[in-house]
Amino acid sequence: MAKRIEDLKVIENKHLNNDFFILELSGDTKIPEFKPGQFAQVRVDGSPETFLRRPISIHDVDYEKNSFKLLIQIAGNGTKKLSELRYGDILNLIYPLGNSFSLPNEKEKVLIVGGGCGIAPLLFLGKYLNSNGTVPDILLGFRNNDRIIEFEDYLKIGNVFVTTEDGSMGEKGYVTSHSVFSAHKYNRICCCGPDSMMKAIAAYCKNRKIICEVSLENLMACGIGACLCCVVDTVNGNFCTCIDGPVFNVNDLKW
Ligand SMILES: Cc1cc2nc3c(=O)[nH]c(=O)nc-3n(C[C@H](O)[C@H](O)[C@H](O)COP(=O)(O)OP(=O)(O)OC[C@H]3O[C@@H](n4cnc5c(N)ncnc54)[C@H](O)[C@@H]3O)c2cc1C
Ligand code: FES
Repeated sequence: MAKRIEDLKVIENKHLNNDFFILELSGDTKIPEFKPGQFAQVRVDGSPETFLRRPISIHDVDYEKNSFKLLIQIAGNGTKKLSELRYGDILNLIYPLGNSFSLPNEKEKVLIVGGGCGIAPLLFLGKYLNSNGTVPDILLGFRNNDRIIEFEDYLKIGNVFVTTEDGSMGEKGYVTSHSVFSAHKYNRICCCGPDSMMKAIAAYCKNRKIICEVSLENLMACGIGACLCCVVDTVNGNFCTCIDGPVFNVNDLKW
């Protein structure tokens, strides 16, 4: 898929809570056919500390409206600056970048697992699976019920299970200890979140020969395979997370 460098217009900046906001973007040209797991390199204007673009996943896509959304957690200067964008502001993106989650066949039982800002690429993944005939189970992990975002949107695309660290909603604990793993037999698990969470899910899947794909959030600079700062060590050698990933089958990772 051809990459674009494009100025897009912010048509909404919706703040979900103190940490998360959603930018909806649209432009003059037709948006591309995105694949789930792809991301954009976002230029942060007006922030002298933020020299490099920031990688942000494609969160949701509306082809009829010719718009798409980025779900962003405020982590530092760059994302803070992005959180201040208003209707009509212009955002420069290089996109769509990276590979995507692979499609299951219609017989596979699929679980999607997300934690923290790792849930960002999973809404579009769920919708993409729906359009290909799969209704996934979805397990979302949050610190507490104040941090739960977009719950209703996930309910529309699958069977949703929640964990919170303090038990204020769903089961108490981390996603990796949720009862969904003992209650159901999955053929495939798609995952994005903290490394520790993805490694635990990867170990679970490897022991049971379940197909498992994870979306890595390695630090990135160029996002286009030029600087090698995002290299990941795989069983087949070193690969760039930005162009060979961010989605990897866990059997290819040295985890
Ligand atoms: C392929 C990919 C997709 C991503 N998608 C999203 C998304 O959809 N929504 C979202 O909120 N975030 C996403 N991230 C993480 C996001 O890019 C970082 O949080 C962001 O670059 C931080 O920039 P900053 O200037 O605000 O913070 P900085 O000041 O640069 O860093 C603040 C803190 O965030 C950490 N950080 C910086 N970059 C990353 C990173 N790549 N991953 C994890 N922690 C990081 C730093 O180590 C530091 O502790 C994604 C990362 C990758 C690689
Ligand atoms: S971020 Fe530069 S090579 Fe991947």
